[in-house]
Amino acid sequence: MRHSILFLLSLALAIEVSGCNSAPGKPGPESKVLPPDKILNFDSLYQQNCAGCHGAQGSGGAAIGLNSQVYLAIADDATIRRVTAEGVPGTAMPAFVQSSGGMLTDQQINAIVTGIRTRWSKSNPTDFAPPSYAALTPGDPKRGAEAYATYCSSCHGNEGRGGSRAGSIVDQSYLSLVTDQYLRTIVIVGRPEIGHPDWRGDVAGKPMSQQDVSDVVAWLSAQRPKIPNQLSSSANSSEGGTK
Ligand code: HEC
Ligand code: HEC
Repeated sequence: MRHSILFLLSLALAIEVSGCNSAPGKPGPESKVLPPDKILNFDSLYQQNCAGCHGAQGSGGAAIGLNSQVYLAIADDATIRRVTAEGVPGTAMPAFVQSSGGMLTDQQINAIVTGIRTRWSKSNPTDFAPPSYAALTPGDPKRGAEAYATYCSSCHGNEGRGGSRAGSIVDQSYLSLVTDQYLRTIVIVGRPEIGHPDWRGDVAGKPMSQQDVSDVVAWLSAQRPKIPNQLSSSANSSEGGTK
């Protein structure tokens, strides 16, 4: 876990640095003829702006894989567009649209969102029904502790502090860098490329329910540092009964 946090931070730095050079530097086939803000080719845009964290072809890296069929089934275009344009404050996810301080135009943001959908979403109808992207009902951290024991402890160990198969997920520096929504996304979508299962795969034959997912996220959120924190404040309502 430590490792992946450092990886994330160093990537964030690397990207900031390379972001300044890449416009005049790297000669993509079209950047020879096009100024950077006119590039609308999805592969170029994704490669230059996203691949460093979300992996080549959206396969995941420091951050979640966006080419996941589960992810594409639960996240709608409006959500992908909003996050891409405005970023997620307090995390490593930058704002990309010019009106939020980024380098990309609205058309370029559109090209990225459309590209993610058309390039990576498989056309065959989904034969699974994942829990919804947003929580339908508030999670309960006490029930979440039980859900944690059922679905997660086999790998992440007692109370999330790490086990033989996976590291700590209650590491304070980790939890202070991610939102509740991202934790929810990770629990539902999984990170197959690093061995963390989706909502169906934690316990064989026993997928997590909507409520299990909300509860386990509420439990994780309650493990955040107790100092005032902009990321947890939106979820504070469920933190009452944990001490
Ligand atoms: C089969 C083993 C396994 C199970 C079950 C499992 N995980 Fe994981 N999880 C992993 C592995 C492996 C990683 C990769 C990082 C590591 O080694 O700690 C990971 C990573 C994570 C991460 C960090 C992901 C990131 O990139 O930011 C979170 C959060 C997480 N798991 C939460 C959970 C929760 C909550 C549950 C139960 C609902 C759960 N995991 C069940 C194996 C598992
Ligand atoms: C420096 C690393 C970094 C870069 C570069 C980056 N992301 Fe992210 N991205 C993140 C992190 C970290 C999160 C999780 C934020 C959170 O905690 O909510 C995230 C979250 C997201 C999400 C939301 C996931 C969810 O939970 O629904 C989307 C969509 C996304 N990124 C798309 C993109 C796109 C498209 C690009 C390129 C234009 C990009 N990201 C570039 C790190 C990055």
